[in-house]
Amino acid sequence: MKDLYYVLMKNNLGNASTCRKLIKQGKITVNGEVIKDHKYPVKFSDQIIYQQTILKAQPFTYIMLNKPKGYICANHDLKYPCVIDLITNKDCYCLGRLDKDTTGLLILTDDHSLSKKLLLPSNHVIKKYLVEIQKKITNNLKEVFLQGIIIDHNIKCLPAEFEMIDDFHCYLSISEGKYHQIKKMFKSLDNEVVNLKRIEFGSLKLDERLKEGEFRDLTNQEILSLL
Ligand code: URA
Repeated sequence: MKDLYYVLMKNNLGNASTCRKLIKQGKITVNGEVIKDHKYPVKFSDQIIYQQTILKAQPFTYIMLNKPKGYICANHDLKYPCVIDLITNKDCYCLGRLDKDTTGLLILTDDHSLSKKLLLPSNHVIKKYLVEIQKKITNNLKEVFLQGIIIDHNIKCLPAEFEMIDDFHCYLSISEGKYHQIKKMFKSLDNEVVNLKRIEFGSLKLDERLKEGEFRDLTNQEILSLL
């Protein structure tokens, strides 16, 4: 939920002080009622009206992108194309990062507080990946990943959930976001990641109808599940 004055700002009615003033002057109605509290908590379903115009109650943009290979998770780069080039709202930035050669689910948003919350290491948001490996794997790895793999010589990863698909494919769910984590985990096991695709981020699943490079807005239900 967002403060009413913030929603007004996002609807381009002025800066914070102008928007608070509009509310204080009784110029804004929420669901037909004049609201004079600038911190009134707005819900998606609220109908907010200013001068006979309905304002958007959702002031932020939340995008699901199926990231293609070759793009870096940044807004500007001199050398490589950036994921921001693929979407229309250029005020957004990536919620977490995927390597240049990783594909799949990437969230882009302009909601700083959501990114802060979801990226907080203590929140342990689960990220699930589809992994293709160079050398044959066995189901014994389930226990090994649960014990916590050591990477970078002495850094112990948190327990990860390994699900074998076939000799060269598995799902791996991790609750951290260390640099090149999955690649390093398999390297520690004397193996190598050939292809990596993120398919889940917290409660969110990659919409498989999105081809690589395509994106869509999150639905209200998807947004609420992340908040
Ligand atoms: N782990 C990796 O090694 N790379 C990614 O892009 C994400 C997780």
